[in-house]
Amino acid sequence: MASRAPIRTMAMAARQSLKIGMLPADGIGREVLPGAKAAILALGSSIPKPEFIDLPAGFEYFTKTGTALPDETVAILKNECDCALFGAVSSPSQKVVGYSSPIVALRKKMDLYANIRPVKSVSADSEGKPGVDLVVIRENTECLYVKQETQTIGEHGKEARATRLITERASRRIGEMAFKMALERPRKHLTIIHKSNVLSVTDGLFRETIRAIPTSPGVDGKYDGVTVAEQLVDSAVYRLFREPQIYDVMVAPNLYGDILSDAAAALVGSLGLVPSVNAGDSFVMGEPVHGSAPDIAGQNIANPLAAIRSAAMMLRHIGYGDGADRIENAVDSVLREGKVLTPDLGGKSKTSEVVEEVTKRI
Ligand code: NAI
Ligand code: MG
Repeated sequence: MASRAPIRTMAMAARQSLKIGMLPADGIGREVLPGAKAAILALGSSIPKPEFIDLPAGFEYFTKTGTALPDETVAILKNECDCALFGAVSSPSQKVVGYSSPIVALRKKMDLYANIRPVKSVSADSEGKPGVDLVVIRENTECLYVKQETQTIGEHGKEARATRLITERASRRIGEMAFKMALERPRKHLTIIHKSNVLSVTDGLFRETIRAIPTSPGVDGKYDGVTVAEQLVDSAVYRLFREPQIYDVMVAPNLYGDILSDAAAALVGSLGLVPSVNAGDSFVMGEPVHGSAPDIAGQNIANPLAAIRSAAMMLRHIGYGDGADRIENAVDSVLREGKVLTPDLGGKSKTSEVVEEVTKRI
């Protein structure tokens, strides 16, 4: 992926080291994050000396302490770390009193308003169709994820409601982020995903705000050359499976972006391959798109490549594009060769063996 504007701070430059907050959290998060760490270490002196700071968070931590995201974790991230990596959290599907997902909270507390999720196949598929190469830019702070839910008793029994928040500010900044991303990519094509035929007020605001970002030459053409299309979210999923090549950058409100990026992961073989960064204006946190995968946790068979690629994205975001290239090229070459793969990709290798193979090639 094209390089992003570096957000390397003066403090970072002065320190000559890179302080990376590590939040493995739950399940396979704890198994894949060491792979990301090993990949960063394999870069040697080509980046400032990494200092990894282990920070608690997660559901298991909640069951032990009553908090899923200690204030101390947030304070250290804000005050001491240059960037961070998050593993995955096991959020139960039923309501647990006092518990709230730490990753959703972190994105808000750190104002990491964009979740950038590239989905790319390493080579064209066996039928010779062009590979998938798209990026989902998911708004990260609002939509239904503001988690304002209530339940009351109505005339016909229980009634549950959720508030969906869409603001002009958040829609504009995610739109700007998506335009910037599109401008950096060869195809320069942006698709706005919404459902404003039904949700004309909320999705309508999202769509209109992004549509209003000037693109045409001679107006205030910051994003000259970017072509803009839009698509209703349901048919976008359909087209994603039928003809994924039509998409380049997709920008979506929080929930649609979450669903679309998991769906897109199926096109490239496994959720275990798809990385992301949560990005704000002054901080970045890498995070594989997958969850804590309780069905395979503890077996040393989780695919570490999404986490390793997330580390590369994080490094690129703070200005270490060369290091990111080396990690991404090593991952791609392991995938292309296809000999050392975890079971989700049809292989027999362990997590640790894949990590070793990647680090050898870095
Ligand atoms: P999941 O992403 O954990 O797993 C979905 C399927 O993909 C499972 O069959 C799993 O084995 C497989 N998979 C995922 N990552 C893999 C990897 N690296 N290597 C090999 N296979 C992999 O989603 P699921 O099962 O719906 O959720 C499990 C838990 O994760 C839930 O508690 C959920 O709340 C949480 N979750 C957390 C997220 C986060 O921390 N950002 C995101 C999504 C879910
Ligand atoms: Mg998800």
